[in-house]
Amino acid sequence: MHPMLNTAVKAARKAGSMILRAAEDIDQLTVKNKSANDFVSEVDLASEEIIIDTLKAAYPTHGFLGEESGFNDNNSEFIWIIDPLDGTTNFLHQFPQYCVSIALMHKGEITQAVIYDPNRNDLFTATKGRGAFLNDRRLRVSKKTKLKESIIGTGFPFRDFSHLPSYLKMFEEMVLSTSGIRRPGSAALDLAYVAAGWFDGFWEIGLSKWDIAAGALLVKEAGGIVSDFNEKQAWLKTGNILASNGKIYDDFIKIVQKHMSDELKHQ
Ligand code: IPD
Ligand code: CA
Ligand code: CA
Repeated sequence: MHPMLNTAVKAARKAGSMILRAAEDIDQLTVKNKSANDFVSEVDLASEEIIIDTLKAAYPTHGFLGEESGFNDNNSEFIWIIDPLDGTTNFLHQFPQYCVSIALMHKGEITQAVIYDPNRNDLFTATKGRGAFLNDRRLRVSKKTKLKESIIGTGFPFRDFSHLPSYLKMFEEMVLSTSGIRRPGSAALDLAYVAAGWFDGFWEIGLSKWDIAAGALLVKEAGGIVSDFNEKQAWLKTGNILASNGKIYDDFIKIVQKHMSDELKHQ
């Protein structure tokens, strides 16, 4: 394993154990509203601190983009992109679907990825050019050739409702054209599940860099396609992301494109 990936795995496991311990005592937590339907608990903050401390101890000159602590590039060509708890709403409801997501960006390219689900002890990792893994098993995206036989993951809009009308049209056609839609509630795990072939595809509007940086590398390294809604590579910037195996990609993205508002088209 690449030494930088190894350090990220250590950080993710440490944060994951703390999150699981905290989950046993959820009523004790202080929870704040960042904005409507956007919660942050002391667990999110503690997890980010554990991750950044662990990474900094090994790489004191690297830069960091953390959901809770913000951006400090430290003038480095290495930037760690961190979601210390993806699926906070699930966590606060004791719905066991959440994870830690850590990606390393080197000169603008994502080169290392870790997504750790502490409930299942599922460790997803990828290094650019070296494949994607779940624990020690190599991952490949699914082989489904028909959208009609595919399961698609997604995220519903829940705090910014400006794209809800377009989303609902996409959703309706997706319901009618696939074998089922799932909304587990952690975008990072959703992408990991595309990499594992458990989802045939995934799409969501307006995600943040820390939700998708690691998951996108997993999908690509598992042989899948990741794009924005214009079939370009601006997903990290726009947060509009679609990921799938190569076989259903054209039919899948057609539905998303058909219902894009002008605003989405020009993002
Ligand atoms: C959220 C989850 C969710 C997605 C949201 C994200 P958070 O992350 O990934 O699945 O639908 O858009 O913000 O806030 O729990 O880290
Ligand atoms: Ca997130
Ligand atoms: Ca988060």
